[in-house]
Amino acid sequence: MKIAVYPGSFDPVTNGHLNIIERAARLFDEVIVCVMVNSEKRPMFSLEERKRFLTRVTAHLPNVKVDAHAGLLAEYAQQHHCCTIIKGLRAGSDFEKEFQMAMINRNLNPNLESLFLTAEHQYMYLSSSAVKELGGYGADVSEFLPPEIVADFQERTRNIRNHKEALP
Ligand code: PNS
Repeated sequence: MKIAVYPGSFDPVTNGHLNIIERAARLFDEVIVCVMVNSEKRPMFSLEERKRFLTRVTAHLPNVKVDAHAGLLAEYAQQHHCCTIIKGLRAGSDFEKEFQMAMINRNLNPNLESLFLTAEHQYMYLSSSAVKELGGYGADVSEFLPPEIVADFQERTRNIRNHKEALP
């Protein structure tokens, strides 16, 4: 059984992420989408909230599981018998960083392959950071997010704008 892990911050999951998940689910027997910590980012949603969003938007994919892990990706992959790390690759900007992470993960676990799926052209410049920036100004972001999470996203950005809620 071929199991892949698709790690990321998913803060929050976008239509671009979902497109990668759906394509990966056609390539592997099982795909684990794992919410992880990126030490360079300060998230808007907690690990548990991001996991809940992903569970909701992948409910139609029977071979996709959602998990969260605050440790090393290479260790997680080994513990969960994943042979491959899936990553989405957008326009040029992703390449350097992704290449470096792939090298580090392979060094930590030589049996682990990183497989890059190129973003569909309509998602080439879509990122969670851009969606959060737009949402921070109250812009309509519904075309970038799965419909199941739009209301929650809007509520959080509205509360942050009105200082009713702090970042986790
Ligand atoms: O969506 P992101 O922020 O680009 O995802 C990056 C992520 C979370 C996959 C990466 O930061 C990660 O693998 N974090 C877990 C800790 C780890 O294994 N770090 C070593 C790889 S450099």
